[in-house]
Amino acid sequence: MKKIKQIKTKEEAIKLLNIALEHEWAVSLEYTIHAYSMPKGKFFYEDPIMKYKTDARAQTIQIGIDEMYHSLQLGIIITQMGGIPSFETDEVVRYPRIIDNLKRDKETEDIVTDLYQSAEFKEGDFPKIQNMVLNISYDEVRHSKQFVAMMEEMKKNRFEDALCFQPNPENEDKEEVQLLHEITRTENELMHRYLKYVLLFSEHQDLSQRLFKNAIDHMRHWDKNSGILVKMGDVIQIENAEKDSNGVERSHSPMPSLYAGEDRPTALETLIPVEETLLAKYEKLISLVPDGEIKDQLQLHMALNREHLFTQEWLLKNVQKIKGLK
Ligand SMILES: [Fe+2]
Ligand SMILES: [Fe+2]
Ligand SMILES: [Fe+2]
Repeated sequence: MKKIKQIKTKEEAIKLLNIALEHEWAVSLEYTIHAYSMPKGKFFYEDPIMKYKTDARAQTIQIGIDEMYHSLQLGIIITQMGGIPSFETDEVVRYPRIIDNLKRDKETEDIVTDLYQSAEFKEGDFPKIQNMVLNISYDEVRHSKQFVAMMEEMKKNRFEDALCFQPNPENEDKEEVQLLHEITRTENELMHRYLKYVLLFSEHQDLSQRLFKNAIDHMRHWDKNSGILVKMGDVIQIENAEKDSNGVERSHSPMPSLYAGEDRPTALETLIPVEETLLAKYEKLISLVPDGEIKDQLQLHMALNREHLFTQEWLLKNVQKIKGLK
C-alpha cells in the first residue's frame, strides 16, 4: 500500500482517499475469495464483538461486504471533490492454508487502520473527511479483532494445517466449469463497471440508485457462483494470478481497472452489450447443467440479468430523449 500522512491540500486529501480505495477494492475481493476457498459450517469461533458463535467463512464474507461499502463511500466523496476514483487495486493473495489467509487478512486490516488513523490534517481542514476516515478505521479495528478470534479458535482446534479448496485438474476439460469461471469473471467486471457509473452519476440519486441495484445483483451473483464452483468440485479463481512454487497465488490486477463511458449516453451504451453477452453465456451454461439446485440458482441469475437488460435499454432510450443531457 502507498502511504500519505500529511494532508494539507485538496489534492492530498483525494490522494489519501484513492490510496484507501485501492486497498478497499482489493480486500473486498480478497476476503470473499478467501471465504469461498474454505468449507461452510466447519470453522466456528466466538465473535469478540457480537458475542456470538459464528461461522468464520460467513463472517469473512460479511467483512468483504463492509469493504465494498467502504469503497463506495470513498469513491463518492472522491467524485464530489472533483477527483477521479481509482479502479487500480492493491495485491490480492491466496495461500494454500486457510489460517495463512486469515493471518494476511488481519495484517492488511492493521495496515489500513494505520493509514486512516495516522493521517494528519491541519485543524479545521476537511472535517467531514477526517470524520469519515476515523469512522471507517473503527470498522477495520473490529475486522482485525474478528480475524484474530477466528485464527485463535482454529489453532485451539488444531486446524492450522487445514487447506483451501483446490481445483480438480479434471475440471479443465469440463465445459460447464470453465464457462462458470468465465461468467463469474464477467459478474465481477459488471459489478465494478456499474459501481464506476454509480460514482460518476452520484450527484443525482435517480440514475445512481438504479445502477447501484444492478451492481449489488452482480455482486450477489459473483458470490453465489463462487459457492456453485465449490459444489462443482472447483474453487473461485483470482484473475491474472500467478502461482509460485509454494502454491501461493498473487495478482496485481484482480479486476479490470478501466471501464469505457464518461457521461450518461456513453456509459449506458457500454452496459447493454456486456449484459447481452452474459445472458447468452448463462443460457449456454444452463443447457449443460442437470436439473437441480445449481440449475435453479443459475436460472435466477439469468432472470435478474434479463431484468437488467430491460432496464438498461430504457435508461439509454430515455437519456437519448432529453436533448443536451450529459
Ligand atoms: Fe475497509
Ligand atoms: Fe476491514
Ligand atoms: Fe446484469
